[in-house]
Amino acid sequence: MRRNQIVLVLVWVMGICATTLLCATVDYDHRALLIDGKRRVLISGSIHYPRSTPEMWPDLIQKSKDGGLDVIETYVFWNQHEPVRGQYNFEGRNDLVRFVKAVAAAGLYVHLRIGPYVCAEWNYGGFPLWLHFIPGIKFRTDNEPFKAEMKRFTAKIVDMMKQEKLYASQGGPIILSQIENEYGNIDGPYGAAGKSYINWAASMATSLDTGVPWVMCQQADAPDPIINTCNGFYCDQFTPNSNKKPKMWTENWTGWFLLFGGATPRRPVEDIAFAVARFFQRGGTFQNYYMYHGGTNFDRTSGGPFIATSYDYDAPIDEYGIIRQPKWGHLKDLHKAIKLCEEALIATDPTISSPGPKLEVAVYKTGDKCAAFLANDNDNSDATVKFNGNSYQLPAWSVSILPDCKNVVLNTAKINSASMISSFTTESSKADTSLEASTSGWSWISEPVGISKADSFAKIGLVEQINTTADRSDYLWYSLSVDLQDDAGSQAVLHVESLGHALHAFINGKLADIVQNISGSSQGNGNKRALDVDIPITLVAGKNTIDLLSLTVGLQNYGSFFDIWGAGITGPVILKGLKNGNTVDLSSQKWTYQVGLKGEDLGLSSGSSGQWNSQSTLPKNQPFIWYKTNFAAPSGSNPVAIDFTGMGKGEAWVNGQSIGRYWPTNAAPNGVCSDSCNYRGPYTSTKCQTNCGKPSQTLYHVPRSWLKPDGNILVLFEESGGDPTKISFGTKQVASLCAHISDSHLPPVEMWNSDTKSGKKVGPVLSLKCPHQDQVISSIKFASYGTPLGTCGDYYHGRCSSNKAMSIVQKACIGSSSCSVGVSTDTFGDPCKGVAKSLAVEAICT
Ligand code: GAL
Repeated sequence: MRRNQIVLVLVWVMGICATTLLCATVDYDHRALLIDGKRRVLISGSIHYPRSTPEMWPDLIQKSKDGGLDVIETYVFWNQHEPVRGQYNFEGRNDLVRFVKAVAAAGLYVHLRIGPYVCAEWNYGGFPLWLHFIPGIKFRTDNEPFKAEMKRFTAKIVDMMKQEKLYASQGGPIILSQIENEYGNIDGPYGAAGKSYINWAASMATSLDTGVPWVMCQQADAPDPIINTCNGFYCDQFTPNSNKKPKMWTENWTGWFLLFGGATPRRPVEDIAFAVARFFQRGGTFQNYYMYHGGTNFDRTSGGPFIATSYDYDAPIDEYGIIRQPKWGHLKDLHKAIKLCEEALIATDPTISSPGPKLEVAVYKTGDKCAAFLANDNDNSDATVKFNGNSYQLPAWSVSILPDCKNVVLNTAKINSASMISSFTTESSKADTSLEASTSGWSWISEPVGISKADSFAKIGLVEQINTTADRSDYLWYSLSVDLQDDAGSQAVLHVESLGHALHAFINGKLADIVQNISGSSQGNGNKRALDVDIPITLVAGKNTIDLLSLTVGLQNYGSFFDIWGAGITGPVILKGLKNGNTVDLSSQKWTYQVGLKGEDLGLSSGSSGQWNSQSTLPKNQPFIWYKTNFAAPSGSNPVAIDFTGMGKGEAWVNGQSIGRYWPTNAAPNGVCSDSCNYRGPYTSTKCQTNCGKPSQTLYHVPRSWLKPDGNILVLFEESGGDPTKISFGTKQVASLCAHISDSHLPPVEMWNSDTKSGKKVGPVLSLKCPHQDQVISSIKFASYGTPLGTCGDYYHGRCSSNKAMSIVQKACIGSSSCSVGVSTDTFGDPCKGVAKSLAVEAICT
């Protein structure tokens, strides 16, 4: 064949995507997903592309791969992509194709959860607001206008993926897609129409012909061929609705989301590992961490109400893209252990038996392959399990994995991985780069109180907020002036009822005190969004102005009919305690309304326009001020955050990009935290919370790629009053690496079977590795072999300690980017015979 003929043939082969070349078939049977006919054990993790930047994606994906993931799962965020009906945005953080290709470039698969309802703590559950205004529309039910839009968007995404050849059936990374999201949890109130909607959604999705399977999560009645999957902290008890479908777990929550006004959730890795191992023990073959990297709710994307800007989620990779240890490392070890069992797992179903109360043994055995999982479900007592003639010690709430049905490669409660402490270093604490020095001072503009824009309008009665603002802004002014000649000088009370989410009240131009709330404003919280407040007023002769600013703090994202729950001052608004005990209902007066702020219309957030005031004294602790400053980026390449301590509530922009709402005055309640966190026993999202009594979020992520070395513009809109000179910039880095390994720990997973190969018995090993390749271990802060105590950052010697530990560890580690030390008397000698010993080390990388 001549050269151009060869080219022609190749083009033709690739055009139809011959199965022999790049394309994969994806199918399923009762046991697993089948890729090219082969059953697979797949470990997946969620990363939501708009919650980080395209510059961060490759690193996040690589860290996911290094952590042992095979699949990246993401939702598709309709309101990011179609902010205005028919006008699409697939740029920057919304570049879905680029994200999917980045995953493919790392050699991982994608699970694309199109929804298009996504929940996800995302504004309005991912629905664009314009959808709400389509005449006759009813969301997520058997409603023609809704179904038409849902189908149009879903088909648009599927077509886009097809055009880019991103489905596995075309040679791309997408092996799975999701339609809808947890509808089964809330479908009761939708009745029969809900049922027909789900059937419609299933056939609509199937008709799009992606060549890969579709799933519905938490949808027990998902019609064939859609696979119903499980979401939750545990899914080992789950079974799909047909024995032709595999057991899949689409959301294993690695922590939980943070609320403004909430404590910080934390889920111990021993419990996550236990849940994952239990799932694979009982026949699971696909498991996804929600979230593997949570990221940041930039702009006004957070849902809620009251979802914080940080979506860290206590995930294995933290908000800033730094691996969270030992969570990341222990799960990595777990994934290796499970993969060592893969051949046996996919070959057969488990044979399950119970050797005692809350003990469970599962064996996957066929031919010469055998893998076993031994579980102790007791939440307080350790146990010994006899299996195949051997005895196994099982700590409470743990699973041991035996890839050969004989030797334990990993126990979920025994962590070999190092841990890390990360710290936030403020610029001001570093020599001469304080904020004062790195900024060229502040300038400011006052936002007028009450009606100031030409597009304000008057209307009889009180309006619902979301229908009025269409979420163009968080803010809606409700203004009225009342003439109460007879009551001049009297102390009255203004009673206001609102659907939420927060309220600032100005009486005669002054921020008023709202009873039960000292801050002069009132806000709901994660449990209660509606407000019912009393505002004391001193009436003046003539006109009294009432300016109520109602705010949304992220639109509802979950629940039956969540789209029409509403917000704002729907009343009644009543003036009470007038002379003669009179009461006036102001609800049906003619109110004047203004959507949004004057500064929003002027585009102050970019910092470029507007009459910025820099001559007169900087106003501090006053409501409604726009602030602006210039700053130099913190040096180095570590992730950057702004500490908003000292500010009240508002939104911030860096070089015109919104870094999200800030609210450092909103603190977590007392009494819902626990100092120690016992991983044993069933986890709930409130079980191991921290940070009680402190602000829910003080640090706000500024992606590095949004910064220039100098001359960056920071703009804030402050609602309630703050002191911007207290703001500091800083970077996040790993301060210490720690590990504490006992002589009863298992050898590292990598050394599985190496003793049978080498004939040498391997014991436990303490390993440390600096987070960055270009770093080395520069010092050992602590090393003790014997009975050391304490936790990372706070270790101390116990009664027994070898005097050689420090020098041995220093010799093994200093100057290297990673090191390993055997935890045994062979290495250290025996400082106390007959006592169980361990090695604890804290090291510094620079
Ligand atoms: C699930 C939902 C996710 C997310 C999660 C909580 O119910 O499917 O989208 O909202 O809860 O983080």
